[in-house]
Amino acid sequence: MTEKNYGGSTSHGFKGGAGVNSSFKKELVKKSKESKEEESGEGIDAKSIKMYKKAGEIAFKSVDFAREIVKKGVLLREIAEKIEEKIIQLGGKPAFPVNLSINEIAAHSTPSFDDSSVAHGLIKVDIGVHVDGHVADTAFSVDLENYEENRKLIKVAEMALKKASEKAGYDVALNEIGGIIEAEIKLHGFSPIQNLSGHSIEIYNLHSGVNVPNYDNGSNIKMEEGVYAIEPFSTNGLGAVRDGKLSGIYHLEEYKNVRDSFARDVLTFIYEEYKTLPFCSRWIHKKFGSRGLLALRQIEQAGLLHHYAQLVEKGNGKVAQAENTFIITAKEKIVVVA
Ligand code: CO
Repeated sequence: MTEKNYGGSTSHGFKGGAGVNSSFKKELVKKSKESKEEESGEGIDAKSIKMYKKAGEIAFKSVDFAREIVKKGVLLREIAEKIEEKIIQLGGKPAFPVNLSINEIAAHSTPSFDDSSVAHGLIKVDIGVHVDGHVADTAFSVDLENYEENRKLIKVAEMALKKASEKAGYDVALNEIGGIIEAEIKLHGFSPIQNLSGHSIEIYNLHSGVNVPNYDNGSNIKMEEGVYAIEPFSTNGLGAVRDGKLSGIYHLEEYKNVRDSFARDVLTFIYEEYKTLPFCSRWIHKKFGSRGLLALRQIEQAGLLHHYAQLVEKGNGKVAQAENTFIITAKEKIVVVA
């Protein structure tokens, strides 16, 4: 899943955004962490690396599975549910709802429980797996129309990811990685989406504060030891996204009492099951039925949730995405989804 930037190179000005490190989120993430080492920012211990790798293996297999079932005309709901079930079968949990975003919708689209839309066009499949909060984030794109332009957009996004991942490493400036992505995409006559970026990852924290830009943003922040998702987006549109309609994807921003006792049960479930990771109304419906959706609305109205908007290309251009997750240490670079 991606990060939308408002203005500068980081998203800290985005109220309620995934990049906001509210004290609640920090506290929650801290509580979830077992690794004292990572908590103090002094690298990642062997146990954590093992869990990230396990999440990565599950994600890799889930991508293989997804490539088989993403076909034109198949219900998006069926695709998303099957991939999410696969992740659980393989011993992981979805780190966020499977995102299935079509054509000009760049990201943050997942089917609702009663969705009747079907796969078509240029579809982005963004999959997250976590093992005890250790997240592997990966995405691929498929052309379901047999359009040359779609295939080119996909190839360029994949090539940009490949080149960026070759460059990524300890002490490498993030804008250099962005510059490589930008150059590769522009070389083929397309544009990178400049206000979407990759992101650092920590335990139970999908967007932990550092952005990996998709263009040379001039910032010379360097990669430190940590986990990073790199995710180039290529488009034949304007190279930026705007907020579209609400997605039914949420994350918990604050945890406090709500009046209605059933809503309180739903909130407790969200807190215990997802912590601050994204979840969707489809999952709440699956667990609690339509009453759950009413409760979700109450929780949202109490101001405890961030509700993600779909991200739509500003010129309504088509968008392709490729993504993988990397563990960077002073000694090595590990491709997580492999
Ligand atoms: Co991501």
